[in-house]
Amino acid sequence: IPTLDDVDFVGKKLLVRIDINSPVDPKTGELLDDSRIKAYIPTIKELLEKGNSIVLISHQGRPGDSDFISLNEHANLLNKYLGFNVEFVEDVMGPYAREKIKNMNKGEIILLDNVRFVSEELIEAPPSQHAKSYLVRRLYPLFEGYVNDAFAASHRSQASLVGFPMLLKSSVGRVMEREVSALAKVFNPEDFPKVFVLGGGKVLDSLRIIENLVKRRLADRILTGGLIAELFALAKGLDLGRENMQILEKKGLISLVPRARRILLSGGPIEIPVDFKVEKEGGKIVEEPSNKVSGIIKDIGSTTMEIYSSFIKDAKLIVMRGPMGVIEDERFRDGSKKILENALESQGYLIIGGGHMISMLGGTAEVNSSKVHVSTGGGALLLFLAGETLPALEALDISSKEAIK
Ligand code: 3PG
Repeated sequence: IPTLDDVDFVGKKLLVRIDINSPVDPKTGELLDDSRIKAYIPTIKELLEKGNSIVLISHQGRPGDSDFISLNEHANLLNKYLGFNVEFVEDVMGPYAREKIKNMNKGEIILLDNVRFVSEELIEAPPSQHAKSYLVRRLYPLFEGYVNDAFAASHRSQASLVGFPMLLKSSVGRVMEREVSALAKVFNPEDFPKVFVLGGGKVLDSLRIIENLVKRRLADRILTGGLIAELFALAKGLDLGRENMQILEKKGLISLVPRARRILLSGGPIEIPVDFKVEKEGGKIVEEPSNKVSGIIKDIGSTTMEIYSSFIKDAKLIVMRGPMGVIEDERFRDGSKKILENALESQGYLIIGGGHMISMLGGTAEVNSSKVHVSTGGGALLLFLAGETLPALEALDISSKEAIK
């Protein structure tokens, strides 16, 4: 797949798909996090410095949800971080937007409104079908090239992601390039041992990732925390006590125990905490071995932290997604903090995904360095790790093979 180094995007008019979909405060409508917006500044600057005029296109939320809003505030933030005037155009493909795009001068930059205001964008269809959509047909003749930098949306086969590469010369932007090259390490046999640290509350997601990692023998160790650790503890036959069982039952997780058991029986390299930090009735916090739990599990215990740290210390690649405990409560952050510190200190390459672990870093994408990669992807990262192909990347691949000019 071509990167910006492989294409002659100099002095061109370019359509640039980014993903600045951000969490929104349902009461005030304000954006709660701007890390995705910040992440695009290098790509935008580079394209402007090369004398291109660029039109940014992105989605925000889904119809019916409170975060399905216009991109007005996103434009203000882009302005602020770029130090350059980004014109917000309150239209996607109508006459107003097309006129604005036609009349752009070199070096100018426009942000179109939420592309999901166009209903076609919501359809998941193959690239050849989306190439015939109104959205694509109305916009593509106005451009000389297409850049897809929206890794976080690359698991969607939607028009703005897969249609344009069928008709325009295309490349990935710097965010996508970085994501893809960091994540390729997951499949690189030389980057071993590979240690995956999976926690948090999204148990089904984690289980799917683990199933894929085990099936394809991609992980040397899978360290579990949070609810996924409890699931594997149950699958191993440990008694987690009445209260934890009730919580797991309420979350509908007991039905997943046979799946976890199959993974264990197939010899999957799953590590289960040997102790937990629990909260007892009356609020007392103690550490208990995982075969003698009597309080509500809130974090991994200190012996587990030590064991996990020893695996992390020797790893060549560490992938972390989801916290070890209930990090919203200061008293139960230690497990996640310790594991993260160890991973940052180790010689290995660290990939961090998921809002919770990223927030423990201090919440910025600036941590990105030659040794740490903070992924912008939510669902896209999950599907990638679960072994599924990403349609937006496939479309770029087709585009490069068909040598679209
Ligand atoms: C995300 O936040 O994961 C992406 O922006 C994709 O959003 P979606 O799940 O609404 O397609």
